[in-house]
Formats: sequence, structure tokens, C-alpha cells
Amino acid sequence: MILAPTLHHLTPGTGALTARTGRYEKRLSDLAGLYADSTAFSAALSRGDRVVYAVEEVRPSHRSGDIAFGTTWMEPGRIGDEYFLTRGHIHAIANRPETYRGEAGHGLMLMEAPDGTVELREVTPGATVYVPGFWIHRTVNIGAEPLVMTWAYPADAGQDYGIIARSNGMAVRILADGTGWRAVPNPAYRPRSAADIAAIHATVA
Ligand code: PA5
Ligand code: MN
Repeated sequence: MILAPTLHHLTPGTGALTARTGRYEKRLSDLAGLYADSTAFSAALSRGDRVVYAVEEVRPSHRSGDIAFGTTWMEPGRIGDEYFLTRGHIHAIANRPETYRGEAGHGLMLMEAPDGTVELREVTPGATVYVPGFWIHRTVNIGAEPLVMTWAYPADAGQDYGIIARSNGMAVRILADGTGWRAVPNPAYRPRSAADIAAIHATVA
């Protein structure tokens, strides 16, 4: 089947994408358990369960070989010293890559390989981060303004959101440090076993 071409316009400040096929929002309560400081999290939640990030997407199909693309808009803020983050995931078919381009604001792409190796790349307007297959990825808003990114990945990639919980979080946390940020080891982190890593590789047909 041959699909019809489509055209989409982005509003860089908001992440709004015309002719999108989907949109979802994540509220603070959806991120329970992800931040180190549970007292600060409860205090923030008591001030209101607000939308902290939103995704607009275009999925022409889910077929292998097709592309999904869209935008992520993230509020700025912190829970204690820890900057606002997305849930993060690895692709369900783990070798599927992704690109993220900065459109507005100042972000950090936090990536972790199955063996626990961490890589960080700053996301600024006009910069594109290539996230190869097999990297767990999460974005962090390290700026004072909303962070807006456009992204694209193979339509059949899927997301495994359990991978971060299974290791008690990612290997590092991104904390405020004066006017900047620093990556701090997560003391609760549990490295993956050889069997865990083999299971990630086994997702690739
Ligand atoms: O495909 C991606 O990695 C992004 O579109 C993310 O899904 C988006 O940034 C939201 O993050 P998460 O899916 O980890 O909640
Ligand atoms: Mn992804």
C-alpha cells in the first residue's frame, strides 16, 4: 500500500504539530517513584497535579520500514535538586535508533547502555542528538524555559518502560549545581545481569 504524503508545521515554542495523529500528556503523578527525593515529590504534587510534559506525534503506520515522528514539550522545574525528566525507556525492539532535535529551551539527553555505560549530550535549538539502538534514553530539562524537541524513530520500535524500574533507576541523576547541572551516581542502581543483557539483544529478530 502506498500512503499519501502529508505536511506538518511545528510551533517551536509549544511543540504543537499540525495534522498530528496523536497526543498524550504526562502529569506529575505519572512520574511517581522516578525522583530521588520522595518528600519533595509529595510536596510538589500537593501543589497540584499539573501537566509536566506532552507529546504530539505523527504515525503514518506501525509497519516495519515506516517512520514515526513528533514533538516533546517539557516544563522546566526541579524535584528537590533534580531537574524535571521524562519516564525514559529502551525501544522494545532494542536496536531501533532515534533522533532528537532541539527546537526551544535547554535539555540534556541522558543515555545508558545495557552494561551501565552513561552518555550525556546537551540538546539546544538546532542541535540534533542521534540515539543509536540499544541505548536507554530519557530527556532532562536543565533550563529555565520549556524544552521543545522534535524526534523521529522507526515506526515498529515500541517502548519498554520497565527497564529503568528493574534497575532501580538510571545509573546517574541530573542535579542542579549552582547555575548549571551535574550528573551524580544513583546509589540505588542495580546493574543488569548477563541474562538481562541477553534478553535485550533477543528483542532483535
Ligand atoms: O520516542 C521518544 O523517545 C520520545 O518521543 C519520548 O517518548 C517522549 O520524549 C516522552 O518520553 P517517554 O516516552 O520516556 O515518556
Ligand atoms: Mn524513544
